[in-house]
Amino acid sequence: MSSSLFFQSDVKDPYSIYKLMLDKNPVYWDETNQNWVIYSYEYCVEILKNSQVEIPIVNPNNEHNLNDSALQILNNLTRLSNGIQHEITREIAMLVFSNLKSIAIDQIISQLIQKDLSDNKIDWVNSVCKKLPILSVLKSFGFEEIDCDFIIEKIDSFSKIMLPKKTEEQVKLINENAEKLYSIIEKHLSLLPFYKSLLIKISEKHSIIAEEITAMLISNFIGLCIQSYDAGRGILSNSLLHIFQNKTFSNKTEIEKSVIETLRFDPPIHNTRRISIEDFYIGESQIKKNDSILIVLASANRDSQKFENAMDFSIERFNNHENLTFGIGGHMCLAKYFSINLATEALSYLVNEYKTIALLENKIEYEPLINARLPKNIWIRINN
Ligand code: HEM
Repeated sequence: MSSSLFFQSDVKDPYSIYKLMLDKNPVYWDETNQNWVIYSYEYCVEILKNSQVEIPIVNPNNEHNLNDSALQILNNLTRLSNGIQHEITREIAMLVFSNLKSIAIDQIISQLIQKDLSDNKIDWVNSVCKKLPILSVLKSFGFEEIDCDFIIEKIDSFSKIMLPKKTEEQVKLINENAEKLYSIIEKHLSLLPFYKSLLIKISEKHSIIAEEITAMLISNFIGLCIQSYDAGRGILSNSLLHIFQNKTFSNKTEIEKSVIETLRFDPPIHNTRRISIEDFYIGESQIKKNDSILIVLASANRDSQKFENAMDFSIERFNNHENLTFGIGGHMCLAKYFSINLATEALSYLVNEYKTIALLENKIEYEPLINARLPKNIWIRINN
C-alpha cells in the first residue's frame, strides 16, 4: 500500500488494510503523504503518551480565512490545544461537562422516532444518531427548544471547523453561523448557576481575565456539541449494526458489552494526528522534529498482540475495554462513559420498546471522511 490516507467511503474493509500493515510495517513512513503511520497497539500507546509530540495546528496564520468569531472558537478548543493552554481549556471543558445533569433519554428518543417514522421505517442515522447525543447534552443544560433546533440544524456544517483542510463552501458556512452559535450559547450558559463560580475558580487559579475564560468556556461548549454530533453519531450507528448482526441484545448488560466491543471492533473514530517537537525513536524508526504522525487507533484495536482473536467480534473477551477508541494520555476523551452509557440506554430503549426490529440495509455506505468511519444511513423497520 502506498497511501495511508483514504476516504472511508472508498474502502470496503479498512481492517484488512490495517492488518496487512500491522503484520508488515507497524511503524510506516508514507512517502506520498509525508507522514509516519502507527498501526500497532504498543506503539500507538507510546506515541499518545509521548511528551515529545503535540496536536498539529489547524489553520496556521488563519490560512482558511475564518472570521473573528469562528477563529476565536477554533483557537480555544481543548481538542486542538497544547501545553498550558490545553491544561486550562481541558479543565474548563471538564468543569462544564461535570455540570451536565443526567437526564432520562427515553422521552427524547421516543419523540425523535415518532417524528420521522413512516410506514414503520426510519433512518436510524439521520433521525436518531445525529440528534440524540447532542440533544441529550443540550437538554441536560436546559436549552430551550428553539435554541436546540438552531444548534442541531447548524452543527453539521459547523463541525467542519475541526478539519485540517476546508473547502471554500465549508468556510463560508462556518463563518456564517459562528457568531450566532456563540451568542446563543453564551446567553444561556451565563444564566446557569455554575457559570460565575467557574469563571472565579479559573481566574483565581490561572490569573486570566474573565473575558478570556468566557471565550474558552463558550468555545469548549461548542466543542462538546461538535464531538457529540460526530463521534456520538458513530457509536450509536455502529453499535446498532453489530448488536443485530451478532444478536447480542438479550439484556442491558449484554448491550453494554456489545457497545464496548463495537468500540474496539468497529470504532467511529479511526485515527488521530500528532506532530513531533523533538527527534525520538519509536522501535527502530527515528522520528524527526516536525514530522507528522498518523495514529491509527482502529488498527491498534485489532492488534493480536493485545486482543486474542482480534479479528473476531466477541463481547466476552476480557480486555475489550482496553481499546484505544477514546485515545489515551493527556488528550483522552472526557466523554467516554457518557458515550457508552448513552448508546447502551438508546439501544436498550429500542429493543425493549419494539417487538421486531429489522435492518433494511445490506450494504452500508460511509461518509467521505479520513478520520472517522460513519455510516451515511441505516434504514430499519420497527414494529410494536
Ligand atoms: C464514541 C464517541 C466518542 C469517541 C470515539 C471519541 C473519541 C475521542 C478521541 C479519540 C479523542 C482524543 C483525540 C486525541 O488524543 O487526539 C477525544 C477527545 C475528546 N473528546 Fe471524544 N469521543 C467521543 C465522544 C465524545 C463526546 C460525546 C464528547 C462531548 C460531549 C467528547 C468530547 C471530547 C473532548 C472535549 C476531547 C478533547 C480532550 C482533550 O484534548 O483534552 N467526545 N475523543
